[in-house]
Amino acid sequence: MNNILKNLKNTGEDDELILEVSIEEEEDRLLPRSADYLDMEKQYDQIMFFYESGIRQLTAKLDILNREFQFCNDRNPIEYVKSRIKTSESILRKMKKQGLPLTFSCMMNNIRDIAGVRVVCPFITDVYQVARLLIGQPDIELVQIKDYIREPKENGYRSLHLIVTVEVYFSDRKRKVPVEVQLRTIAMNFWASTEHQLRYKKDRAFTEDIHRQLKECAQLMAQADEMMQKLAENLNVSDQDDLFW
Ligand code: GTP
Ligand code: MG
Repeated sequence: MNNILKNLKNTGEDDELILEVSIEEEEDRLLPRSADYLDMEKQYDQIMFFYESGIRQLTAKLDILNREFQFCNDRNPIEYVKSRIKTSESILRKMKKQGLPLTFSCMMNNIRDIAGVRVVCPFITDVYQVARLLIGQPDIELVQIKDYIREPKENGYRSLHLIVTVEVYFSDRKRKVPVEVQLRTIAMNFWASTEHQLRYKKDRAFTEDIHRQLKECAQLMAQADEMMQKLAENLNVSDQDDLFW
């Protein structure tokens, strides 16, 4: 946070905050610098509170769905849920990459994965069922869906990605908070988590051969998912009808 605040500047126009002006360039400013920074820190914290509230609302919904399913079917369609708020550094990197003006309003209008929730399920049918149940709720609006299960990424990555807005009641009004929801099976999560570790631990790019091996590994995971799914159907644990979005 301190890092990003060093690069923030209040332009005085419409409360817009422009990021990316070095401290040195600020020397001729009229307001004491510390006052500006405090104000920006407060504004940033408020914005992050807005996203955190969306995560709370959404995870409560998932928890209720999971518990209800446990009562009725004696098993959980959700293995676990993980959530995160995107770091300021990561937000800044993404905005720079997209060539966006570095302002808070631009951040809120364009970066849709500031609040992120990951839902890990045992079976592929659970992934789609949980997604459908979530989106069926009237205070949840589907903004975008990317089905990387039906159409995996070139490198083998599989998951169902949703961008939704969830309604949250604050003291003065109701607001729609955007949240990125990634739903995947345990096998898909194994691949994505380990691939992520490999990618981010080393600075060097993957060679063709590493690429090929990772893809092969992703295919093994997909086969495992398919076998488990068939077993689940044979044992009447899940329904083939729920297999796709
Ligand atoms: P981002 O700029 O990363 O948000 O990409 P995007 O806006 O095109 O969204 P996309 O739905 O493709 O991916 C968003 C998120 O999915 C990433 O931030 C990761 O968490 C996850 N993801 C996507 N591709 C991969 C991948 O190849 N490997 C792993 N481990 N995760 C991935
Ligand atoms: Mg992202």
